[in-house]
Amino acid sequence: MKKEYKKEYRKFTKDIYNNIHFRDTKNDLHHGTSKYDHLVRVSKCSFYLSKIFGGDTKTVVRAGLLHDFFPGGRKDALENSYLNHPKTAVRNARKYFELTKKEEEAIKTHMFHHVLLKKIFPFINIKEKAKIKENKPKSKEAWIVCISDLLVSLMEVFRFKFSYTANLSYLVILNILYMNI
Ligand SMILES: [Fe+2]
Ligand SMILES: [Fe+2]
Repeated sequence: MKKEYKKEYRKFTKDIYNNIHFRDTKNDLHHGTSKYDHLVRVSKCSFYLSKIFGGDTKTVVRAGLLHDFFPGGRKDALENSYLNHPKTAVRNARKYFELTKKEEEAIKTHMFHHVLLKKIFPFINIKEKAKIKENKPKSKEAWIVCISDLLVSLMEVFRFKFSYTANLSYLVILNILYMNI
């Protein structure tokens, strides 16, 4: 990140990074990485996309940092589920930070990619119902956070699966070699 970008990014996000509850997300696992790392990646990716597409940078970097800000994992409670957690993240973020309407809305609609996927493949996450209209991003900034979350999640899942597959292959090869000795 360029020096001037770093300064701007820091100015908009300093209070969030300094918050102890936000730092606690380092203890939660998300896509095979820490939730903290995921939030930082989505926020920084949103920063660059907003520079490219002329969005409100402050909104996207803050919404990016807070979009999955809730304690625990998605399977730990019903309110943390795939489609409920955006609202849970807003409720949790409100406890510690002043959120603008635009930031709240961007957090609430960040799972739109998952809603679309569910419409194409209805068997995915079958227990949860999702309405397109309700979950569709309503501003450029909300689209940026949603797309950043998708890009970062794909990268994280792929990387996790790649290392998992590599480890498994290594174990299989070791076993075959061991049996042949
Ligand atoms: Fe999420
Ligand atoms: Fe996310």
